Amino acid sequence: MALFVWNDRVFGVRVARFDAHHKNLLNMINDLHDAMVQKAGSSVIDGIVERLVEYTKYHFTEEERFMIELGFPGDEAHRAEHEAFVAKTVELKEKLKKGEMNLSVETMKFLLDWLKNHIRGTDRSCARFFNESAKRQKP
Ligand SMILES: [Fe+2]
Ligand SMILES: [Fe+2]
Repeated sequence: MALFVWNDRVFGVRVARFDAHHKNLLNMINDLHDAMVQKAGSSVIDGIVERLVEYTKYHFTEEERFMIELGFPGDEAHRAEHEAFVAKTVELKEKLKKGEMNLSVETMKFLLDWLKNHIRGTDRSCARFFNESAKRQKP
């Protein structure tokens, strides 16, 4: 059973491209959870974590590009949240790779909770600003 089930009303930020990114990210956490439950080998788990780290970086870079282009006033604090999460996930990736830790339910919960809270809080207020900017720019 999937660890996380998307709900547009709860997690949607009303910017289609970012909703799509968020769904992909949360699906990767589901994949990771499935791999853990199925006791998949370390190469499978390392591969999913690698993809999660790379996609997280891609998504954050895209959001940050929009924030700069549209002059979002809270961009520094938002970027700092992104940097802290990337640092955590990179640390997780390295520790798993070196065999210094095993994937645990707590780790899965940390990743999932961080993303859910970030999407519903920081990303949503940022997306509201994006949508208002788009409306202002319309003739
Ligand atoms: Fe986001
Ligand atoms: Fe964000």
